[in-house]
Amino acid sequence: MMKTQFHALPFGAIALAVALFADGATTVAAENPTLKDVFKDHFMVGTAINRSIATGSAGFRRSLEFVEKDIALTKDQFNQITAENDMKWQLIHPREGADGYDFKPADAFVDFGVSNQMYLVGHTLVWHSQTPNWVFAGTNPPPASVGGVPGARPGRGVYTGPRASRDELLERMRDHIHTVVGRYKGRVKVWDVVNEAIADGAGTNILRESLWLQIIGPDFIARAFEYAHKADPDAILRYNDYGLENPVKRQKLITLIRSFKEQGVPVMAVGSQAHINVSTSFETMDQALTDMATLGLPIHITELDINTAASGQRGTGADIGANASLTEGGLISDADRKLADAYAGIFRAFIKHRDAVKVITFWGVNDAVSWRRSGSPLLFDGNNQPKPAFDAVLGVLTEPDFK
Ligand code: XIL
Repeated sequence: MMKTQFHALPFGAIALAVALFADGATTVAAENPTLKDVFKDHFMVGTAINRSIATGSAGFRRSLEFVEKDIALTKDQFNQITAENDMKWQLIHPREGADGYDFKPADAFVDFGVSNQMYLVGHTLVWHSQTPNWVFAGTNPPPASVGGVPGARPGRGVYTGPRASRDELLERMRDHIHTVVGRYKGRVKVWDVVNEAIADGAGTNILRESLWLQIIGPDFIARAFEYAHKADPDAILRYNDYGLENPVKRQKLITLIRSFKEQGVPVMAVGSQAHINVSTSFETMDQALTDMATLGLPIHITELDINTAASGQRGTGADIGANASLTEGGLISDADRKLADAYAGIFRAFIKHRDAVKVITFWGVNDAVSWRRSGSPLLFDGNNQPKPAFDAVLGVLTEPDFK
């Protein structure tokens, strides 16, 4: 068989195309199956995009020629997009005051999605990171003992100056949420209202020691959801966090979301970032989704990538021999095989839980633009060629359990 890279179909994909045509269930092109088409009866498949992709200009270590290829891949494979950075507070609202907003890059992101009929996710309204210092600074700072948490140490780069009062910070949060959500009302369908508010580790604290928590108190999350709901009553409001494959952190999430539901806080979906590594198995993801599904809310996988560099895999001759597999006319490296197996495992879990899982978003279109690029964590390489993991993901639907 000729080696034609992108169009060369491995056995799994051929079987898939045939199976789907035999069913008449979908119109996937036999020659060239794509993520969005193959999974369209189950969930949306999206990607985070950077500013170069949204605006069609060189950047992020990519020449214009490569950016154009990244854009083509985005349109080809994905029906949902998230702005990787441009809706974060630091980027969209860098300065205080009515003219402190910079909407240009976010507008470009929204225009790109609307003109390509993509489902738009806004990321993120309230987060401890990528938020400018002025947000937390006081005009009439309260004495240090008020609003502070004894013993709390600020993290690296965290604002340490005089702090805003609770009311001042709530008012800034309300203004920010109303302005940003209001601007994109009707176009951005989902918002990550609060990002990463849960504490890591085995301690009993549910919430992270952020300035939001310290200045406003634990109700900062509920207030953010209320403001967002007021700004766009039709938007799906999401709580988003990482590390939910870990049972301890997951239990904190479940406790937190249950209490929101009891209080009537308008949290409408759970976002699980899923920045994982190749040791995350089907069983781990299956258990995580089983537990999270008990909340009765849709689950969105919001920032998926799988780090291959997690355990410093160096293929030995024997490993490569054992993993050798003839697809696209060549040997698959050990790292590529492990990545493909890991992706297949977690996609089996996503498909098993397809009643709850509504959106799967990859955190980047290819390895070259990934924030974890040293771990080659995505389905496409820097030349936008599908890796063995791409075929493994598409192949999951052809397995007997899922046909
Ligand atoms: C990352 C971006 O990918 C990087 O470009 C940026 O420098 C830092 O943030 N959790 C999140 C995302 O919610 O917003 C982060 O994105 C990755 C971790």
